[in-house]
Amino acid sequence: MSEEDRKRILVVGATGFVGPALVDEFSRAGYHVICGVRNLESAAQQLDFPHVEFLQVDLNEDLNPNTWLDRLREHKIDGVVNNVGIANAFGGQSMENVNVNAPLALFEAVSFYCQENLEAGRQPQNVSVIQISTTGVDWPDCDAYRYPKSKKLIDESLLETSGLNFIIVRPNIIYEPGRGHLILEQIVRLPVLTYIGSTKIQPIHCRELAIGVVRLMQNPYKASCSILLATGPEVLSWKEVFLKVSEALGLKHGIFFRVPLLMGQLFTNCIQYLPERLLHRLGILSKMDNDTIEMMTKGSTGDNSEWLEKTSLQPMYIFDTYRNLSSSPETYEQYIQSIRDTKA
Ligand SMILES: NC(=O)c1ccc[n+]([C@@H]2O[C@H](COP(=O)([O-])OP(=O)(O)OC[C@H]3O[C@@H](n4cnc5c(N)ncnc54)[C@H](OP(=O)(O)O)[C@@H]3O)[C@@H](O)[C@H]2O)c1
Repeated sequence: MSEEDRKRILVVGATGFVGPALVDEFSRAGYHVICGVRNLESAAQQLDFPHVEFLQVDLNEDLNPNTWLDRLREHKIDGVVNNVGIANAFGGQSMENVNVNAPLALFEAVSFYCQENLEAGRQPQNVSVIQISTTGVDWPDCDAYRYPKSKKLIDESLLETSGLNFIIVRPNIIYEPGRGHLILEQIVRLPVLTYIGSTKIQPIHCRELAIGVVRLMQNPYKASCSILLATGPEVLSWKEVFLKVSEALGLKHGIFFRVPLLMGQLFTNCIQYLPERLLHRLGILSKMDNDTIEMMTKGSTGDNSEWLEKTSLQPMYIFDTYRNLSSSPETYEQYIQSIRDTKA
């Protein structure tokens, strides 16, 4: 495929955990990916994929729709994924700006850009927007937590926007071997496995999410102006998640120890001062504040049938993921490829 034939997709928030999987999957699917990132240097290291270029953005500051409009015009964007979302205010960012005000400015710019192209008889005139939200928006007490509250606000704004072709994707807890915020294959090797409460979650594999988002972008009218719950195929407690991973890896699991929320928060706060290498061995790769820990243990579940129907995907099970991983890297890669290859 020639460079001119590739559709041009803007992925805002292309670094971090989910971002690189999205960029990789869009690139594999034949898109040219414009990666909206804060730090060009570290992005170039994280996003070593073909057919990508970098665009410096900062959602803490890019609150003017005209800033985004110039970028859409300059890069001739055909589709937008907003993957940015901060769950805490580490680094002095405004959650309202990053999660709500800047995405609003971006979406307003997309509307204007489509209208402008329509009037000028230019393409593209139907730019689809995919907003990565969270299942936390469905909590009855969602407004008590700043993160899901902010995601709810931006989702509601999108739902009220007319003339924009959008899809809101709400993922549950996202996991992937070797990457992410929690490295399950490391956690299950610990002699003592702590968990808080027994509420239920439906973790989704990061690749299922990323491949699904690409498929939605390829066929946006199938799910236009809708909300899709990107939940995994099984309803599990955290303890059941750990049991499945250790069973799949053929490991004898450590002692389970249920801790009260306060103790979990205290423990997590303390270990954040450990060096990164040690944290990796404990399976924890990101900073968490008390709210994040509480939210992770609140639980949420939801029906994934519409997600699977609109993406025509096979769901990825935790056991299959880690069983394939334990066989060999090639077997695991073949498993991921089989998901990419699932036909409608
Ligand atoms: N992980 C989960 O289990 C989970 C579950 C449900 C929903 N989600 C949603 O999924 C999306 C991705 O989550 P993730 O786990 O991949 O998060 P992440 O690893 O923290 O990545 C967040 C992304 O947002 C970018 N970002 C943060 N502040 C920014 C700013 N001011 N300007 C531009 N970019 C900024 C980060 O860039 P830097 O690399 O520069 O920091 C990174 O690319 C988020 O919208 C999140 O709310 C995640």
